[in-house]
Amino acid sequence: MSKLNKFKRFTITSALPYANGPLHIGHLAGAYLPADIFVRYLRLRKKEVVYICGSDEHGAAITIKAKKEGTTPQAIIDKYHAQIRDSFQEFGISFDIYHRTSSPIHHDLSQEFFLNLYEKDEFIEKFSEQYFDEEYQQFLADRYIVGTCPNCGNENAYGDQCENCGTSLNPTDLINPISTLSGKPPVLKSTKHWFLPLDKYQPWLEKWIDEKENDWKVNVFGQCKSWLKSGLQPRSMTRDLDWGIDVPLEEAKGKKLYVWMDAPIGYISATKQWAIDNGKDWKLYWKKQEHEADNSCLLHFIGKDNIVFHCIIFPSILHAHGEYILPQNVPANEFLNLEGDKLSTSRNHAVWLHEYLEEFPGKQDELRYVLTSILPETSDSEFTWKDYQARVNNELVAILGNYVNRVMILMHKFYDGKIESDGSNIVLTDSVLDTELGRFYDEIEINLESYKFRQALQSVMEIARLGNRYLTENEPWKTIKNDPEAARNALHNSLILIGHLAVCLQPFLPGTVAKIAGMLNWPLKKLALDQPIAFENGHQLNPAALLFEKVEDEVIDKQIQKLLDKKAAAQPQKQETLIPAKGNINFESFAAMDIRTGTILTAEKVAKTKKLLKLTIDTGIDQRTIVSGIAEYFEPEAVIGKKVSVLINLEPREIKGIVSQGMILMAENAEGKLSFVSVDEEMHNGSVVR
Ligand code: 2FM
Ligand code: ZN
Repeated sequence: MSKLNKFKRFTITSALPYANGPLHIGHLAGAYLPADIFVRYLRLRKKEVVYICGSDEHGAAITIKAKKEGTTPQAIIDKYHAQIRDSFQEFGISFDIYHRTSSPIHHDLSQEFFLNLYEKDEFIEKFSEQYFDEEYQQFLADRYIVGTCPNCGNENAYGDQCENCGTSLNPTDLINPISTLSGKPPVLKSTKHWFLPLDKYQPWLEKWIDEKENDWKVNVFGQCKSWLKSGLQPRSMTRDLDWGIDVPLEEAKGKKLYVWMDAPIGYISATKQWAIDNGKDWKLYWKKQEHEADNSCLLHFIGKDNIVFHCIIFPSILHAHGEYILPQNVPANEFLNLEGDKLSTSRNHAVWLHEYLEEFPGKQDELRYVLTSILPETSDSEFTWKDYQARVNNELVAILGNYVNRVMILMHKFYDGKIESDGSNIVLTDSVLDTELGRFYDEIEINLESYKFRQALQSVMEIARLGNRYLTENEPWKTIKNDPEAARNALHNSLILIGHLAVCLQPFLPGTVAKIAGMLNWPLKKLALDQPIAFENGHQLNPAALLFEKVEDEVIDKQIQKLLDKKAAAQPQKQETLIPAKGNINFESFAAMDIRTGTILTAEKVAKTKKLLKLTIDTGIDQRTIVSGIAEYFEPEAVIGKKVSVLINLEPREIKGIVSQGMILMAENAEGKLSFVSVDEEMHNGSVVR
């Protein structure tokens, strides 16, 4: 344990997801899987760690969803809090607490923070012009307003942030703002709010962020520098909303705290609740200690759209308060895409965790493995089902599962699963294996501590590859015949390697580790860094069981088709533009038209034109020539014999030297596509149409 060794204690947070919808793979790959891997690693290192998360239950995200589903915000958060919590649990995201920002302990602490800053006179109180929806009689903060991002031109930027370029915005920054309530442009109206003076904190923030240059990820550091460069502005910490935490001031009745003020405080209130539940002291995890060396190491795992809130706004609040530690690092991930397109809740372009759990029961580690292999650590990355299949089949099944299975099967075949030697404990006896293993342990440690989880997982897989090579080179299935001791030794070494493999897999694939522990007939706690990976003489293994199953083409094709179907269903039905209605006419004008049924007898193209056909029509009254502009849609042969409606008393007109005596009635859509106005076959020519 190199870099992290100086810390006694760790406070690890993952972004609090809005309780307004289910989770998809992008969430998992952004802020949860990396944090869980890191926390499991710290626990393996026997570090004191608390891993905090919970539902973000305030803000416009919740109320807008409630409106969409025709229910109350409370019903929305209750429904999705439970669903999200369960999905996390199923995927083994090992929070010490999964809390809620709707809890009283959180409301109290958030108000306490606000009052602390208020009493120190930190806020700038000012009336400002805010957008207001006149139809809904409501101010439009944050997600209640959308418009064009002045930075990147994204037409769906929110009032507080553009999710496309990550820029933090105020509603008045948006070009062509539109209320998401009424869909109409809002008006400006004056209202009082309490602003955090980010401009005042700028010099302090600059110094603090500059110290992180060599430590923080390039993408995170770069974003921070660019905001600082464009100059920070005061940001309102209050909102005119009816859902959220009350601003604890008499004169602010009816106003609520800005959700991005209360949500990160949710990390602290969750820790308080966890401490109450577990007889711990929450202050050790959050408050500055007497000696700096005793401070906890605070790390925020987030997605890139949350960087400004965790690197600028929340640290400013903590700094202004004064008693709290600041994050050591904010290892934000970029975005995960899906099958060549952005993940999107509104377009339903996602692999939803609750659906995956239903369709792939017991296959959580497979998804953990694939997502860890493609984490968007330094740039956006992409999940495809074909890649999922390839990684499961070619890596989990063919390398990891195969290695463990070969060793277990041979142990049972040759020795009935019993590990026996000449007396003493069975330890690793191959020095090459030992050296290689040591190298992988180092690589895994270095990569995990630098938040390079993809690379760390690759190093773990190298242990399985090493094992397969070792088996192939030693061929115990052959040496068993002429050198049984060599066979026994090779298989015992291979078993010990499985033990190490399981230790190193702990942060990544907890379910698989449990299965391996089961086969080795070891309690889980023996697969630890401070435990010798050695077997007692006479140890009995449990039967071999397959760790992973091959993913068949049909399974993947079904998932790909499902995404295509969702995409098609999400396409808005193409609205035909209709030609506007004409003004009224009187009945006489209508009755003046003599429309009859007729039959097309002959048809030919009019020379040197594209559109015109010369038709002979039997109108029942006579046979006449009509020139009709239908040639682009109908071949002459196709219209001969057709029953049509004909306006027979239209004044004759000369078209291209042919006298046209009337007009065939056609339906025409906005794109100019034509169709005959149908007449049943049995109608006699000359029947009146009216
Ligand atoms: O972007 C989001 O989903 C937010 N709910 C994250 C909040 S993180 C924290 F500050 F609570
Ligand atoms: Zn933008």
